[in-house]
Formats: sequence, C-alpha cells, structure tokens
Amino acid sequence: MRAAEPGDAAVLVALAGDVTGEPEGWLLTDSAWRSVADERRYLRALRRHPHGAVFVAEIDGVVVGRLSVSRDPHPASGHVADIGLMVARGQRRTGVGTALMRAAEEWARTARVTKLELHVFPHNTPAIALYEKLGYAREGHRRAHYRRPDGSLLDAVLMAKFVAP
Ligand SMILES: CC(C)(COP(=O)(O)OP(=O)(O)OC[C@H]1O[C@@H](n2cnc3c(N)ncnc32)[C@H](O)[C@@H]1OP(=O)(O)O)[C@@H](O)C(=O)NCCC(=O)NCCS
Repeated sequence: MRAAEPGDAAVLVALAGDVTGEPEGWLLTDSAWRSVADERRYLRALRRHPHGAVFVAEIDGVVVGRLSVSRDPHPASGHVADIGLMVARGQRRTGVGTALMRAAEEWARTARVTKLELHVFPHNTPAIALYEKLGYAREGHRRAHYRRPDGSLLDAVLMAKFVAP
C-alpha cells in the first residue's frame, strides 16, 4: 500500500476503465472518469492539500487497486470523508480491498477525520460484505441517487464507520 504518485495516473485510469466496464455495473460507466491528464493533475494537487488522499495497492510492481478518500467540503462536516474503492478483477478476494480500507482509516486519523462514508449500489454484494466485515453500518438508502449514461436512475446504499481519533 502506498500513496499514489502523479506517475500512476495512466495505470489508474486504465484500472478504472476496466472496472467500470465490468458487466455487473459495480461503478458508474461513463466518460466522466477523469482523463489521464486530469488524474495526474488531481494526484499532484493532493500533495498540496491535506483534504484527501489516493492510495494504491501494488503487487510485484503492478498496481492492482485504488482507494480515494476525500474530506467533505462543508465546513460543518469536515470531520467526514468519502471513500471510493476498486480492485483489479484478477486480484480480488486476496485482501487487497481490506488493506486499502485500512489505509483510509490510518489517513483519517492523521487528517482528523472521525467518520468515513461511502455509497454502494444495492446489488454490489461483494462490496457490501467487505464494508460490513470492516464495521461499516448502513445509514440510509438513497433512492434514484445516481444516473447512468443511458438516463436510468440507480439507488445507492449509504454506509459509514466512525474512526477513533
Ligand atoms: C469490492 C471490492 C473492492 C473488494 O475488494 P477485495 O480485494 O476483493 O476484498 P477483500 O479480498 O479484502 O475481501 C474482504 C472480505 O470482503 C468480503 N467479500 C469480498 N468479496 C466478496 C464476494 N465476492 N462475495 C462475498 N464476500 C466478499 C468477504 O468477507 C472477504 O473476506 P474473505 O475473503 O475472507 O471471505 C472488489 O470486489 C472490487 O473492486 N469490486 C469492483 C469495484 C467495486 O465494487 N468497488 C466498490 C464500489 S462501492
């Protein structure tokens, strides 16, 4: 596990493309996922701003997972941060997701974030199982919260975990 570097941008965009392209629709498939240049800019900007982080999981020099965590922009909820997670299909069920989630908790402690939250689609039973195993609780069911490129709307489960400072 390590912090992502701007030089990881191309491989991270490729990973996101692979995961969003999976037929199960774990993540939203649209062209809104940033370009390599945008991802590189974002990773560079994170070095200057302590309000978020991106971690990568690397096995034998190959990036196999990405986790982003970013503090809520509202001043009254700056103790809350939102997580995004993906692991390469061929490397799942080997503890990579768990390790990335642990990295987010460590980051939270250093960033004075005491609550981590995320949205997950209700059909994403692997991810929900992971989050429940790590102590995330369901806080709500958000109806028609995300829009697919084809215009259809998707529900999302809001889950969160309190992190001791
Ligand atoms: C969800 C995801 C990140 C999990 O990553 P992972 O590296 O496979 O997770 P881990 O190996 O750390 O799994 C830890 C635990 O989660 C649960 N889990 C993970 N995948 C599961 C599955 N397919 N079925 C049931 N439980 C599962 C299990 O309890 C597992 O522990 P175990 O293997 O000892 O039984 C991965 O499946 C993924 O990238 N999916 C596509 C993108 C995605 O859905 N991202 C999350 C969006 S909210």
